[in-house]
Amino acid sequence: MYYDLTRKILFAQDPEKAHDITIGMLKKIGKTPLRAMLDGRVQGSPRNVMGLDFANPVGLAAGLDKNGECLDAWFALGFGFVEIGTVTPLAQGGNDKPRLFRVLDAEGIINRMGFNNKGVDYLVEQVKQVKHRTGLVGINIGKNKDTPVEHGKDDYLICLNKVYEHADYVAVNISSPNTPGLRSMQYGDALDDLLASLKERQTELEKKHNRYVPIAVKIAPDMTHEEIAQTADSFVRHSIDGVIATNTTLSREEIKGLPHCDEAGGLSGKPLQLRSTEFVQRLSTELDGKLPIIGVGGIDSLASAEAKMSAGADLVQIYSGFIYKGPPLIHNLVKNLR
Ligand SMILES: Cc1cc2nc3c(=O)[nH]c(=O)nc-3n(C[C@H](O)[C@H](O)[C@H](O)COP(=O)(O)O)c2cc1C
Repeated sequence: MYYDLTRKILFAQDPEKAHDITIGMLKKIGKTPLRAMLDGRVQGSPRNVMGLDFANPVGLAAGLDKNGECLDAWFALGFGFVEIGTVTPLAQGGNDKPRLFRVLDAEGIINRMGFNNKGVDYLVEQVKQVKHRTGLVGINIGKNKDTPVEHGKDDYLICLNKVYEHADYVAVNISSPNTPGLRSMQYGDALDDLLASLKERQTELEKKHNRYVPIAVKIAPDMTHEEIAQTADSFVRHSIDGVIATNTTLSREEIKGLPHCDEAGGLSGKPLQLRSTEFVQRLSTELDGKLPIIGVGGIDSLASAEAKMSAGADLVQIYSGFIYKGPPLIHNLVKNLR
């Protein structure tokens, strides 16, 4: 009930302002006893994925808490894992505003934020200050806009070095549509080169810190079947630990004619649901159980989360569903997703 009122107030604001208010509130509440109000102490169904013990299979997707400022609050809300970031080596402002749009009639969101974040050092400080780390922390890394794509690998390695000892897993984001050229790293030699370097560095860091931190790669739903097969093959050849599918889509098929449908950026939420579930299904067939999948895209109900699991996901994440449905969605999924 209280979320209905909160939603009314937040949806009366500009979307990015509503986002900033939410982050500001959660950051404050998370650090005080008021966090109990978030009421996420729901028993979920634990599972082991990528060698990690998840208290429940429901996670927050990357991009909502880009700087890792609200971890205490996310865990109080009941998430089994929280993916913070995307973070880049240096702080950057992102694209010009407005850059975030609600597609209300379709329960979708279009964003072209462009990795606005306070930089990896700031994020690491936030993680160190977490008081109640009751779930797992994934740290999602990317490259700065000013770094040419040919040198993009260097940015991922800088971030991997810095976040390794603070993360339960590291997510490598090569699928945002809002950093020019980034998605080209999902294919062919560029992908092989990136994965080989990441694995080599992971082995060095494992020795240094005496701890193996899995690496999952996050990919876009806008791939042909052949591209999915090739990408899956690269992941298996390089012994990547997991795949996060999917990021936002460039397609506007599902929201034709609706307000904001022509805004540039990635589309998420309900209009992405089926596309991303079909993608997970395809990917799962290609991977044939060799790597786990974290399914994300348009989950807004128990049924849509179950569909991701049936398609082959081992864990799920939500972003837009949380914006439209609020904490009751988390509680429903944690309690009932088996
Ligand atoms: C405003 C916004 C910002 C996002 N930023 C990031 C990001 O920084 N890194 C990332 O990997 N994904 C980012 N995403 C994508 C989400 O993590 C997720 O993959 C996508 O939205 C599909 O899930 P959903 O339909 O539940 O929102 C962003 C999504 C939105 C709506």
